[in-house]
Amino acid sequence: MTDFHTHILPAIDDGSKSVAESIEMLTALSEQGISRVVATPHFYANDESVEAFLNRRQNAFDALVKEIPDSLPAILPGAEIRYYDGLSRLDGLDSLRIQGTRLLLIEMPECKWSESTIREITDIASSGRYIPVLAHIERSVFCQSETTFCRLLANGVLMQVNAEFINGSFSRFRAFRLAKKSRFHFIGSDCHNMQNRAPDIGKAYKILEKKLGKAYTADFIEFANNHLKINLKG
Ligand SMILES: [Fe+2]
Repeated sequence: MTDFHTHILPAIDDGSKSVAESIEMLTALSEQGISRVVATPHFYANDESVEAFLNRRQNAFDALVKEIPDSLPAILPGAEIRYYDGLSRLDGLDSLRIQGTRLLLIEMPECKWSESTIREITDIASSGRYIPVLAHIERSVFCQSETTFCRLLANGVLMQVNAEFINGSFSRFRAFRLAKKSRFHFIGSDCHNMQNRAPDIGKAYKILEKKLGKAYTADFIEFANNHLKINLKG
């Protein structure tokens, strides 16, 4: 199983503060049945160039990878890209795709999206170079009309939810409604540390399986694997 959204790389954003903390997080994820982790540090185009970000990400990745045993989950470098008007024209956007894939994890504003915002996302999708994945969609889906959401899906835009949306005793019912309509495609822990934002994704997969069945969950996991397999051992 995959954790599609994490802040597990050490000392690069507001996530893990050290290699030791990253290893604790990876160990917890491994114990929850996760074998693949996408590392998605925040990227803010206002704050730094893509090149500077990639250098920092490589340093953090190298520092962590040399310390982790093979028994811990494989890490795939990516980014959580904050949306802004003009993102589609960002120099180096290709380099922010999850490594070896066309997937771009994009953090959208938590409000009703304008027509130009929606069109920019569908344009990114229709370019053929990218598959936009909208991060923790539960934060903004309910601000959008049904038509907007269906239009994004019809254009090949994929959706990610955070594990806490499925774990929450009230929010899970909204999650089930979305899941039954195949309105999200990936789950992420969005873990930042081992305290208030610790990894808790194994529970979400179990809840989904209990509610929607083994076949649904197996298909869901296979869909994620198919999108990521280029880089993964198995
Ligand atoms: Fe995040």
